[in-house]
Amino acid sequence: MRPVPRAPELADTLTGRRSVRAFATRRVPRDLIERAIEAAGWAPSPHGSQPWRFVVIEAMERRVALADAMSGTWRAQLALDRQDETVIARRLARSRERLERAPVLVLACLYLRDLQEYPDRDRREAEVTMAIQSLGAAVQNFLLAIYQAGLDSGWMCAPLFCPEIIRDTLDLSADLHPHALLPVGHAAADPKRRPRRSLDELIVDWH
Ligand SMILES: Cc1cc2nc3c(=O)[nH]c(=O)nc-3n(C[C@H](O)[C@H](O)[C@H](O)COP(=O)(O)O)c2cc1C
Repeated sequence: MRPVPRAPELADTLTGRRSVRAFATRRVPRDLIERAIEAAGWAPSPHGSQPWRFVVIEAMERRVALADAMSGTWRAQLALDRQDETVIARRLARSRERLERAPVLVLACLYLRDLQEYPDRDRREAEVTMAIQSLGAAVQNFLLAIYQAGLDSGWMCAPLFCPEIIRDTLDLSADLHPHALLPVGHAAADPKRRPRRSLDELIVDWH
């Protein structure tokens, strides 16, 4: 059964999207993932470089392998935060469940090969910063397209902390820098909606 698309108005999509962290196991049609990745591709990028690539992980054994591979990093970080063993076990189980229940994971990677080259460090660094900003825009396009199609997703930053482990597990080329893991599926329940700052707080000055 295909998901029911949500209202097409932009404002409804912007305010309706929410980060989903618990998924039902119901399958997701392949073409909806493809359409959302196409939507990501329409994001603005420095010099039109489109410095992002996506890896789709659908096979259960791959999702389990990814969760296995990332669990060492999760555990080490929680231990650094001085969490006790029960909390660590609970949080690890929750992260693992997210990757194993969501029927599709999309890994957004930074791809720096087509960036403009500069002789000076300032502009080289700015170029990478712009590429990362652009990846954020592409991910937002993806999340909105997924939501609009009647599905749900969320943003996991965990790949930032173990890019090598992810590259090894998924046999990715060294050109791909894993940045965000986006589980896609149907929300298991309506998630909590976080309030937003008022316009007064957002606009700090208007001259
Ligand atoms: C760069 C970035 C990294 C994020 N990383 C995580 C994450 O690792 N785990 C998570 O549950 N949510 C993550 N989020 C989602 C935020 O927690 C979420 O967007 C925020 O709480 C607002 O909730 P909403 O998206 O439902 O409106 C991340 C969001 C961004 C933009």
